[in-house]
Amino acid sequence: MKNRITSLKNKLFSFFKIKDKSKNGANKIIYDYSSKEQEQQQEQQQEVVMETAKEKEKEKEKEKETETMYISKDKNHHNKEPSLDKDFNMIPISVTINNIIDKITTNAYHNCYKKTYVRNISNFYIANLDYSSWRIAMTSMQFCEFTKHIDALLNNNADIMCNLRSIKLYENDVAYSKYRAGVFKTDNFIIKIDTDSFNFKNEITGMYNLGKGLIEEYSIVLPYYAHFYSKNKKNISFSVQPRIHDTISLRDWMMIYENQKLDIEFYIRMCIRISKSIQFISSKHMVHGDIKPDNIIVENITNRSYIIDFGLCGLHELSEGTGGTKPFCHPETRNTGDIYKDNNEYNWVKNTKYNDLWSISFIFATILIFRKCYLYYRDYPVNFFNGDKYINITYLNYIPEKFRLPFVCVLTKETPDTNIDIQSFISLLEKAL
Ligand SMILES: Nc1ncnc2c1ncn2[C@@H]1O[C@H](COP(=O)(O)OP(=O)(O)OP(=O)(O)O)[C@@H](O)[C@H]1O
Ligand SMILES: [Mg+2]
Repeated sequence: MKNRITSLKNKLFSFFKIKDKSKNGANKIIYDYSSKEQEQQQEQQQEVVMETAKEKEKEKEKEKETETMYISKDKNHHNKEPSLDKDFNMIPISVTINNIIDKITTNAYHNCYKKTYVRNISNFYIANLDYSSWRIAMTSMQFCEFTKHIDALLNNNADIMCNLRSIKLYENDVAYSKYRAGVFKTDNFIIKIDTDSFNFKNEITGMYNLGKGLIEEYSIVLPYYAHFYSKNKKNISFSVQPRIHDTISLRDWMMIYENQKLDIEFYIRMCIRISKSIQFISSKHMVHGDIKPDNIIVENITNRSYIIDFGLCGLHELSEGTGGTKPFCHPETRNTGDIYKDNNEYNWVKNTKYNDLWSISFIFATILIFRKCYLYYRDYPVNFFNGDKYINITYLNYIPEKFRLPFVCVLTKETPDTNIDIQSFISLLEKAL
């Protein structure tokens, strides 16, 4: 059944394949070093070509006129060329099929959720505590650095823990002690430490369902190793993941003046790339749960982006989360805010894939409109959000028309019949490029 649905789904999405624009040679520049005589000949030839082109244009116009007459006579007439509108009409079908697949998978998980799934994850966690297998995947220097820090954290080695280089400190960090809490960096790794085990349990779920370390193909970064204590809150829990060198968060990247002046197509390509990482996460029935500019890092020089921080990830429709961090949460999570007042309280709701889709569209709509990544509701213009916290269409109209539709579908209620998903969001953007 699932195979049939998948093949039907593949067929449907073959409609959305992009044409290779480079092949038509439209923008080719040819350098010519011919003599004056040849130039004159060419000019004459060009005049002839121009005249024939004019004639052809006239003919085309005539054809168009007859075509319009034909259309007005026969209302059922359809254009032969596939258009964006036509693809757009296919979206409800593909979304319905994806929803059916999701429901089937959710039910399958639900039926064995408490038993098999939890048991598999705890077995996975226990097996993962033996980190010796990473010896093959790393250089001996890296492995040495890896084991040195894990051993220090497991044995509360105050010397090493005091000297960790911090990227971000949590409120419960005790400097110059073994009770560290925050995000730290070593030469090759990022170490997250906290007294609360919640995030590390979620990271284990992510590792189990998506993979460990850097998943190069989909540009997502998960831990190699995670260790947590559930009962004793005095003990620290931690995880170790590969450090992606020479990167900054998307928020910081957008603050660089040159990065605010790039062609719109550049941001669209970046949005597609990150959306494809989310699509991979969705394909495993998972939700990242905290897509925001600080959880996307961008490599200097290459501008390649990666999704990090799986501390709030979980299974679609089964696990619970907040839908992310304000102001990036889907309005339906009710984790929204006020431009006049910051509110750091969160509702816990079922994780859904639509939350990730909302967050990524919201981030890139902000980038396309303002060329910035905002941090608070108060950073946005007063009427940017409607009463229901969806986005005011007037602002989305600042996005160039050819790229606007996918953002309008996700961020407004203007098209109530069109519930789009990450797959159709990507397809519409790719088609518009
Ligand atoms: N694998 C990585 N490679 C390079 N830098 C990283 C990596 N992981 C995290 N960082 C840096 O550390 C910062 C904080 O990491 P992360 O988002 O995982 O921490 P966090 O405390 O869980 O964040 P928050 O709770 O605020 O979402 C990131 O914004 C990024 O700058
Ligand atoms: Mg984070």
